[in-house]
Amino acid sequence: MLELKNLQARYGDSLILDAINLRVQSGQGVALLGRNGAGKTTLLKSIVGGGPSVSGEVNFLGQALKGQATYLRARAGLTLVPEDRRIFTHLTVNENLLLARHACAKDQLLEVEQVYEWFPALAELKNRMGNQLSGGQQQILAVARGLMPRPKLMLLDEPTEGVAPLLVKQMAEQINRARREQGSALLLAEQNLWFSRNCTDYVYMIDTGRIVFEGDWSEVDRHPEVINRYLAL
Ligand SMILES: Nc1ncnc2c1ncn2[C@@H]1O[C@H](COP(=O)(O)OP(=O)(O)OP(=O)(O)O)[C@@H](O)[C@H]1O
Ligand SMILES: [Mg+2]
Repeated sequence: MLELKNLQARYGDSLILDAINLRVQSGQGVALLGRNGAGKTTLLKSIVGGGPSVSGEVNFLGQALKGQATYLRARAGLTLVPEDRRIFTHLTVNENLLLARHACAKDQLLEVEQVYEWFPALAELKNRMGNQLSGGQQQILAVARGLMPRPKLMLLDEPTEGVAPLLVKQMAEQINRARREQGSALLLAEQNLWFSRNCTDYVYMIDTGRIVFEGDWSEVDRHPEVINRYLAL
């Protein structure tokens, strides 16, 4: 459903991503692993638009996305949950969720009750203001809001960052359930191996703006040096 062909991304004169070829199939979970500064966020922003300047091909559901406004890409079924979460601090949890209606056609939007069923902790916080949530709670809210428009493909940028291990485990189960029930594909930028392994079945490793390895998790297990070289400190 998503295909990047020979993609390059630049900020000003700096070439950040080069020769990127990547695919996500319908309903599939794909991990994009790499250390700080490897280019994960830049790659996700190249898909949704509004970030770096991009050349090469970005195709989604058979359509070329290049030149399309970000809101149209969202309507086509893409959502990005950004690494800085972008929770509206002066709106309640419930209002933050309902804001997702602006990202899709009205009849596409999920009922908030569905989201509260997937993420029960949010139901208890529904009237809490965004600025009264912990970092982990904000992260769950950002993921939940990303699901509201029923994305065909959800892009998650390091959702486990700063989240306690117990919550990370819960988040993996909740995301998997929501995706299963909705049939959403996932492209997950991460450094957390446990979480990535639990949410995806295919891996791209990125380093200094280039894909240096791809394969399923059993392939990763056959090449432990890949993790040591490109992910471990
Ligand atoms: N707005 C920008 N302008 C110029 N350079 C940028 C910009 N954003 C990122 N970069 C550079 O692009 C490179 C890739 O950054 P990117 O944020 O994509 O990495 P990342 O893999 O997401 O890292 P992290 O794990 O720390 O979030 C880095 O060298 C970074 O300094
Ligand atoms: Mg990043």
